[in-house]
Amino acid sequence: MISVILGSQWGDEAKGKLTDLYAANADLVVRFQGGNNAGHTIVVGDETFKLRLLPSGVVQGRDVVLGNGMVIDPSILMEELGELTARSVPVGNISISDRAHVILPYHRQEDAILEELKGALKAGTTGKGIGPCYADKVSRIGIRFADLIDPQAFKEKLDTAYAIKEALFSSLGHDMTVSKQEIVREYSEYARILAPYVTDTSYLITSYHQQGKRILLEGAQGTHLDIDHGIYPYNTSSNTICGGACTGAGIPPHSIGRVLGIVKAYTTRVGTGPVPTELHDAQGRHLADKGHEFGTVTGRPRRCGWLDLMLVSYAHRLNHFDGIFVTKLDVLCGLEAVKVCVGYEHNGESLATFPSNMRVLSEVTPVYTEFPGWDFDCATIVAGGFDALPDAAKDYLKFIENELDIPLYGFSIGPKRSETITFRDIF
Ligand code: IMP
Repeated sequence: MISVILGSQWGDEAKGKLTDLYAANADLVVRFQGGNNAGHTIVVGDETFKLRLLPSGVVQGRDVVLGNGMVIDPSILMEELGELTARSVPVGNISISDRAHVILPYHRQEDAILEELKGALKAGTTGKGIGPCYADKVSRIGIRFADLIDPQAFKEKLDTAYAIKEALFSSLGHDMTVSKQEIVREYSEYARILAPYVTDTSYLITSYHQQGKRILLEGAQGTHLDIDHGIYPYNTSSNTICGGACTGAGIPPHSIGRVLGIVKAYTTRVGTGPVPTELHDAQGRHLADKGHEFGTVTGRPRRCGWLDLMLVSYAHRLNHFDGIFVTKLDVLCGLEAVKVCVGYEHNGESLATFPSNMRVLSEVTPVYTEFPGWDFDCATIVAGGFDALPDAAKDYLKFIENELDIPLYGFSIGPKRSETITFRDIF
């Protein structure tokens, strides 16, 4: 069976923790899009792991795949492999798609140049070269892992791409920061070390599936960062939705058995663009401080606001969640009242769907349902589960479940595995 875990908001919904938890019952864990713009924090006992590329299941010794839909910076992958080995983590089998694209130094440089030029339209990228690498893929001047490990193909493709970048950068007044010779030297070494991991991962995933094994597809970022359906142009450059799992892993749509949507109990956003429920007051600071809302990759403070069900219901339309999992419920403890956005109004009219026009999105007035605040002690909930929650917190979860009409698969009240209360497995 193939199950997919996806973020329903703007990323950072604590998916890594859930993937790690459900990976315990999986045979294979697959990442299908994005690159080291993602950052997953996993706490196992007293140890904290911060992964950017490797699927979370790797920490549990599961077999893992970096799928063809990913853009991979080999230097970061080498760092992650080195760190896991240094910390004696029993790393499972790691496979890298031969069709995944390679991030090169000029992609990072281009990311910085373009952000600078875009002014108000900049997305506030992570600066890791993600967008330029995907752009090269679509322009068909990208370099894939199949090329990286073939010295002749690598040279041929790099010659062409480098010449194009050199001309582009120079027309914008920039020199290339890394020479072609340096790239060849550095990347030939990566190729030598990573070649044994490179394979046709679509074939591999299919053969696990045919053997009846359990496969977990782990989304990175969130639905509203999707290149087609996110808040364009303030989104990322890959398809983060369930459809992206098919193209990015190389599997047919009907092979997907179950889709779990991760819903943070409030909203966060790292980057630019409109966030209708953003709070600029003490309540927003409460969410940021208590939720430790700083980007895992960039360390930037995240913008915080009330839970926005307009975002999540649009995410449900795109992904058809079989279940939702509400994370970070503890962060709402101690507030006098808690609000949930259930609709948008624009020019006095209620909007039926999520707006595509960013000017409209920036002008909407959220319609809120208000709940009394609550407080709880996490140890009591770890011991007693859902029943031990205060009534107001129970009502909050039930409201979300009813409003979206999607079963609640569980909720979490902290980063530790024991602080995650699950009602159902996803396999
Ligand atoms: P990029 O993916 O680095 O090109 O960044 C594009 C936009 O997506 C920026 O607004 C980033 O802040 C945002 N973004 C990218 N990755 C993540 C993530 O893992 N969590 C939250 N936001 C992200």
